[in-house]
Amino acid sequence: MDSDHSHVLIFPFPVQGHVSCMLKLAELLCLSGLHVTFLNSDIIHRRLLRYTDVVSRFSRYPGFTFETISDGLPPDHPRSGNRVVDIFDSIKMVTKPRFREMLLPGGCLNCSNRPPVSSVIADGIMCFTIDVAKEIGIPIYLFRTVSASCFWAFYCIPKLIESGDLPIKEDDEMDRLLIGVTGMEKYLRLRDLPSFCRASDLSDRAFQVVTSETQETHRANGLILNTFEDLEESALVQIRKHIPNLYAIGPLHAHLKSRLEARMTSPPRSSNSLWEEDRTCMTWLDKQSRKSVIYVSFGSMTMLSREELIEFWYGLVNSRKKFLWVVRPNSVAGDGQNFPTQLLEGTMERGYMVRWAPQEEVLAHPAVGGFLTHSGWNSTLESIVAAVPMICWPYYADQQVNSRLVGEVWKLGFDMKDICDRVVVEKIVKDLMGVRRDELIRPVDRMMKMARRSVVEDGTSHSNLNRLIDDIKTSTKKKEIF
Ligand code: UDX
Repeated sequence: MDSDHSHVLIFPFPVQGHVSCMLKLAELLCLSGLHVTFLNSDIIHRRLLRYTDVVSRFSRYPGFTFETISDGLPPDHPRSGNRVVDIFDSIKMVTKPRFREMLLPGGCLNCSNRPPVSSVIADGIMCFTIDVAKEIGIPIYLFRTVSASCFWAFYCIPKLIESGDLPIKEDDEMDRLLIGVTGMEKYLRLRDLPSFCRASDLSDRAFQVVTSETQETHRANGLILNTFEDLEESALVQIRKHIPNLYAIGPLHAHLKSRLEARMTSPPRSSNSLWEEDRTCMTWLDKQSRKSVIYVSFGSMTMLSREELIEFWYGLVNSRKKFLWVVRPNSVAGDGQNFPTQLLEGTMERGYMVRWAPQEEVLAHPAVGGFLTHSGWNSTLESIVAAVPMICWPYYADQQVNSRLVGEVWKLGFDMKDICDRVVVEKIVKDLMGVRRDELIRPVDRMMKMARRSVVEDGTSHSNLNRLIDDIKTSTKKKEIF
């Protein structure tokens, strides 16, 4: 390891999908010999300690440290579904001043026996970090966990307001194509805009936050995205016209695996789960035949109504395919009991349910032949790398955009957004697992190969990450000279 004095502070927005991929970035930077401090919210950190071996995993890197900060919310706040927006407000009020104190000279991030923080990589939906970094005169890079295409759609929101496309009106035709998101005119419908754009009132808090935070990105020294050039070339070209210093370094989970494998023969499993992984599902998968199981998971924040749960359940049982379904604790509203006998019996026969699964391993298992997903960006990338075709049922945020790309542009699966009906679920599961499977195999296989190629030596993501590391090191050296 070529150690230098660069010390990067990584600060994720405190939810599962953001923390887990930023931890992967942290490990990639550690592998290059940088000092890294990872700033977690107290509650996330407690859960990581409880459910993962993250501390012993990172103890291999002498330059790595965890620090914690309050997210400003009471411990019993759900921090999921529509309540996620509360985190934005509490972070601005409670976390921001504390973060500033920690980072200023003499603050706890700068007073240990390590070099002072020389760069910040902050979650791009917390742009207050730019002001703090600028105040102390260190570079700041923003990391967005969403796809480049979704970032670009967010970026174009002011244009969509100007053209009158937003706010969406009650009588709007949701299948109408949009011309305001340059490069996506041929396929992006009103229906496919990020869910926040469905707010009837533009003063809606979530809409305001994502719009304004995205517009501030250009104030940072660069933008880091968990994607790869071959997958999202067109969106990356558009973004670079406004934010030239862009690093596309994903898929991060595959990138980390590849760099670890280049150093060790058998790198340890790397789980960053905030729930306890139920590994019995792996034993169940071992007993199933090749490509026979559809894996169902709606990520870390989706909330289902009881009706939605029942529709999906009937659809899965009636498809008569084997299914492995993650139903997170507290993720279904209403009565969680008294389910129809037909569903319970169908599940005993052909299904397996867990509260949280080791998803990357599940997707890589030979028995898994399809993924019914909410189209979260991490899940989408994980499915691509594992060459598993998808059925997309986007819930919110960026997922509406991702699912359109999967279904219409990349042809890696079927998009069933805005529909939750047992007959449709049954049909689409049968299509994916049988009738129309052949039409997906070639694009899925091709994209998997491109994803894997991007993260090995001389691949685009590999080179982009090297450039980021060089930029971080160079800026530290310049600071040391002056
Ligand atoms: C949300 C957004 O929709 C997403 O696009 C954004 O990038 C982060 O926030 P989330 O609901 O967390 O994401 O979904 P996703 O991005 O797919 O992340 C979920 C992560 O949890 C994945 O890495 C997945 O592997 C993991 N997971 C999920 C498990 O490890 N086990 C499970 O049982 C379910």
